[in-house]
Amino acid sequence: MYGNAYIDPNEKFEGQEETPELLAAFQARIDQGDKIEPQDWMPAMYRKQLIRMIEQHAHSEIIGSLPEGTWITRAPGFRRKLALMAKVQDEVGHAQLLYSAAETLGKSREDMMNDLITGKSKYSNIFNYPALTWADSAVIAWLVDAGAIVNQLANSKGSYGPYCRALERICYEESFHLKYGHDNVVHLATGTKKQRAMVQAAMTRWWPPLMHFFGPSDKASVHSKTLMGWKVKMATNDSMRQQFMDMYIPKIWDLGLTLPDPLLKKNEETGQWDYTEPDWAEFKRVINGDGPCNAERLAVRRMAEENGKWVARAIRNEDAEYVRPFA
Ligand code: 3HC
Repeated sequence: MYGNAYIDPNEKFEGQEETPELLAAFQARIDQGDKIEPQDWMPAMYRKQLIRMIEQHAHSEIIGSLPEGTWITRAPGFRRKLALMAKVQDEVGHAQLLYSAAETLGKSREDMMNDLITGKSKYSNIFNYPALTWADSAVIAWLVDAGAIVNQLANSKGSYGPYCRALERICYEESFHLKYGHDNVVHLATGTKKQRAMVQAAMTRWWPPLMHFFGPSDKASVHSKTLMGWKVKMATNDSMRQQFMDMYIPKIWDLGLTLPDPLLKKNEETGQWDYTEPDWAEFKRVINGDGPCNAERLAVRRMAEENGKWVARAIRNEDAEYVRPFA
């Protein structure tokens, strides 16, 4: 089962009138390309789906900073260390933008964080794999960020104003990350025999999770139809996967690297890439908590929450031992 226990398409929402007229007027706004803003009327399910998707995206950014983050102390050279530190910091900043966008829909940051660390919310499959070598961090920066741009550039043209504005800003930074990652991969691919072997091994490791990254095939996707009708999602999972392959497979092959899929080829008749069906059983396992690093990723996040509690208490002034004189 891919779907989330807390999206029930038949759910009735208390306290909000949803007449056919209101729903039709909302859909007309979407169809004519209006941006929906937080104060506007919206169907309860539109709100709920957006919270689900933006929240998962935000979680993916903070969890996503972990595999690369482990390479900061071991980056080869001062310049690369500085660049990686800046990239990881950007990813955490993206999470801040996205949590803020989700908050405009009425879910508190505390609740979102709680749903992440208790395993209720999902985050991207891809960050549950280990970055075993420096080359893994290079491949992540190039190709995971490239995949993220394919998805986010499309969705930045979507209907919910705060999410679209966050995505626009994120895409500028991701474009820079992509160049940084590409530079690192080129350096290794054109380096010594050992460096080439290292980047080839990383490419082989990350290709299957990259194919999963765009989500289940269109026929198995649970939410695509609803989300596309509301212009929250602007392209299907399969079309984003194809777009990514179109843009990046030639660049990977140009570097003399190979991909672990014997069926991979551009079909001249359809114009689409033929590929081996990804292992969807593995995908399901990983997104439901049983990937190689799920437990470790959430443990780090729980530790960060625990260690940061004093900051939240200080901000809320909960530990104050005095009464402010002019309060
Ligand atoms: N990883 C984990 N779960 C995934 C997934 C993936 N790659 N792809 C799909 N799923 C989950 C869905 O969340 C859904 O589960 P749920 O019902 O419990 O929420 C289920 O599988 C069914 O999939 P659907 O195709 O029906 O789901 P969507 O229509 O929501 O499409 C999506 C999935 C394309 C990932 C879409 O949600 C999306 O575009 N999300 C926003 C972008 C995003 O989250 N990107 C993550 C990357 S962040 C990043 O790259 C940071 C980097 O720069 C460091």
